[in-house]
Amino acid sequence: MLQINKRPIMASGMTETGNAFIGMYDNFRKVIGRQLPLVGLIIGCCLALGLLYLLFTPPLFTATGTMLIDTRKVQLLQQQSVLGDIALDAGTVQTQVEVLKSENISRAVIRKLNLTEDPEFVGPGKGVISSVVGFITGLFGSGKLRTPEEIEDAVLEAFDHARSVSRLGLTYVMQLTFRSQDPAKSARIVNAIADAYINDQLDAKYQATRRASLWLQDRIKELQAQALTAERAVADFKEQNNIVDAGGRLMNDQQLAEINSQLVVARAATTEAKARLDRIQSVMAQDIPDASVADSLNNQVIIRLRSNYLDLAQREAIWAKRYGENHLATANLRTQMQELHNSIRDEMRKIADSYKNDYEIARAREESIQHSLDDAINKSQSTGQAQIQLRDLQSNAETARSLYENFLQRYMEAVQQESFPISESRLISPATPPLKKSSPKGSIVGLISLVGGSILAIGAAYLREMSDRVLRTSAQVEEALQVNCLALLPALRNGPQKVGKGIVHEPTREERDFARANLLRYVVDAPFSRYAEAIRSIKIAADLNGVLNARKVIGITSTLPNEGKSTIASNLAHLIADAGGSVMLIDADLRSPSLSNTYAPDLPGLIDVVSGATTLANTILTLPGSNLKFLPAGATAKLPHTNEILASASVRSLFETLRAQYDYIIVDLSPVAPIVDVRATGQIIDSYIYTVEWGGTKIDAIQRALGDAPNVYDRLLGVALNKVDTAAQSRYEHFHGNHYYQKYYAKYGYIE
Ligand SMILES: Nc1ncnc2c1ncn2[C@@H]1O[C@H](COP(=O)(O)OP(=O)(O)OP(=O)(O)O)[C@@H](O)[C@H]1O
Ligand SMILES: [Mg+2]
Repeated sequence: MLQINKRPIMASGMTETGNAFIGMYDNFRKVIGRQLPLVGLIIGCCLALGLLYLLFTPPLFTATGTMLIDTRKVQLLQQQSVLGDIALDAGTVQTQVEVLKSENISRAVIRKLNLTEDPEFVGPGKGVISSVVGFITGLFGSGKLRTPEEIEDAVLEAFDHARSVSRLGLTYVMQLTFRSQDPAKSARIVNAIADAYINDQLDAKYQATRRASLWLQDRIKELQAQALTAERAVADFKEQNNIVDAGGRLMNDQQLAEINSQLVVARAATTEAKARLDRIQSVMAQDIPDASVADSLNNQVIIRLRSNYLDLAQREAIWAKRYGENHLATANLRTQMQELHNSIRDEMRKIADSYKNDYEIARAREESIQHSLDDAINKSQSTGQAQIQLRDLQSNAETARSLYENFLQRYMEAVQQESFPISESRLISPATPPLKKSSPKGSIVGLISLVGGSILAIGAAYLREMSDRVLRTSAQVEEALQVNCLALLPALRNGPQKVGKGIVHEPTREERDFARANLLRYVVDAPFSRYAEAIRSIKIAADLNGVLNARKVIGITSTLPNEGKSTIASNLAHLIADAGGSVMLIDADLRSPSLSNTYAPDLPGLIDVVSGATTLANTILTLPGSNLKFLPAGATAKLPHTNEILASASVRSLFETLRAQYDYIIVDLSPVAPIVDVRATGQIIDSYIYTVEWGGTKIDAIQRALGDAPNVYDRLLGVALNKVDTAAQSRYEHFHGNHYYQKYYAKYGYIE
């Protein structure tokens, strides 16, 4: 019979179409719908965090500069580089990108711009995240940086983080960017990086050229020594072989020619001297030389002596004629003439001797020259052989020298390049201070916080759903307890109410008390309220179950106190009575007889009838304003064994009596979990209605309570979910006509 109550429950997530995906989507929609306030809160918080981040993070500016690796190298010096140029390819550009990123360059810029003293790099960051990170690292780290090296390392890290270098597509252009809080600083740093890079390149070239020139220097010294040795060998050889180079010709040829010409001169001189000697000798054969001879001799002494002689001869001829030949004066003249004649002869002999001498000298000279000529001819023949060897040595010397000169020239070029190296890279567009901040970008932060918040919210919603082990929907009730959910009873609020446009009515204390008392008969006062509808559905469920006759004793119980048993029991009884049914309401919650306290405080009741203190007829009350009969609990104070009383035969017989008189007997029971009483009511109660506080009572507790009371569970008519938050419930299950109920019944002091 009980099986009728328990209808098969469909596995959650399965939709009618059976499509798993649609099922999942549906489930997702439901979960999000139910947890909408949480989802909204989390997304709102994330957006607020994003907004805070935007507000408190200092803006960052990114400056950009582009560098070109020039493939057409500047031909400034119009000469070949000492080292030769590297062919440019993709790898080279990538290499340059890495060089630009290198620590060397970064450190150079840091030092040049004194970034170790820049608070942006060394001080604690101004942003929200950096403050948080700084705080956390401060907790775990050793504290402040001390040595300048540590500071520089830290700055370097921040610097590397803010800088980026990349190749633009497949071009030879590299893009350099730097992010900083100060736009001018970011541009300054980009340009400084480019400068440092170019300087580094130049320095590298300078160093390489310098090394090359040092090597060349050594080689040059060596080559110079070689050239000198070779030249010295030539000179020595020449000296050894008497080869002297003068006026473009070798000494031997020169000498030969000169000796030859000297010989010619000497020979001419000898011939002339001989001729003069022969002439003087022939003249000497005459007594008195002719006037022509005298003139030719060109000797003044002879000319004078001859003219004196000629004068005397004239006079003698005159005087011989005049005075005779033997005249003394004539003879005297002749003596004088003889003396003059002798003098002339002596003089002539002297000249002849001198001529003879001259001749002898000329001949000796000629002979000597002839002799040296013969010598020279001999020598020139022997130097021919040496000449070949000399040429060999000379070519050696020339090679060494030209090699030396070539190296010397290269060396000079290297030295020149050393003082003026050329870089292949240049900054084609220097960085300028950016006008717009590059981060934080409102749209991106917004998007991230929205997406992040959504993910977080969805996660939290699912987590809450999973951990939320309470009952909120009839489906959950059916799934968790395998029993029908008979009704969802809205929580009735008697707080401030809106009574007109902008007018709110705050209920007074009396109104509140009145409302609380009225709650027990709310179905009578507000027959069209949703609460009344729900109570009605409980009654219908009881009727439809076919227990009308056999099971008319209906016990109302719950897991824990205060879930609303008494209110439901009272309203159910009122509903039946109001409709003209014969119904009896019994307060069997002997530990906490709240109904008795409200309707019949201090009046005798169930306990007193069972103990025989009074009769049943004396204790049954008719509640004012209705024809509902009520049996109070009676003198329950300090009764320890209420369960024994409920299980007693007298109670059983009492109920038998009542069963015969009334169509419905509604029994308000105690909760199952803390008190054992309900378990003892198996004999008197036909079926139970189990009250569960909506979203309040834990499923585990309900399951355990029902597990401990199998007789209750077996006779369970179903569950009434009480105190449903209608606003929240509309997210779980659709409650139609919400506004209608609210508006209509506000006048009874409650809002559903
Ligand atoms: N649907 C409802 N909306 C608003 N308040 C309710 C509702 N149902 C019950 N209450 C309130 O909850 C409180 C407890 O109700 P009630 O006494 O009926 O619970 P109970 O389960 O019988 O408690 P106990 O175990 O102590 O007897 C009361 O103040 C009552 O007014
Ligand atoms: Mg109660």
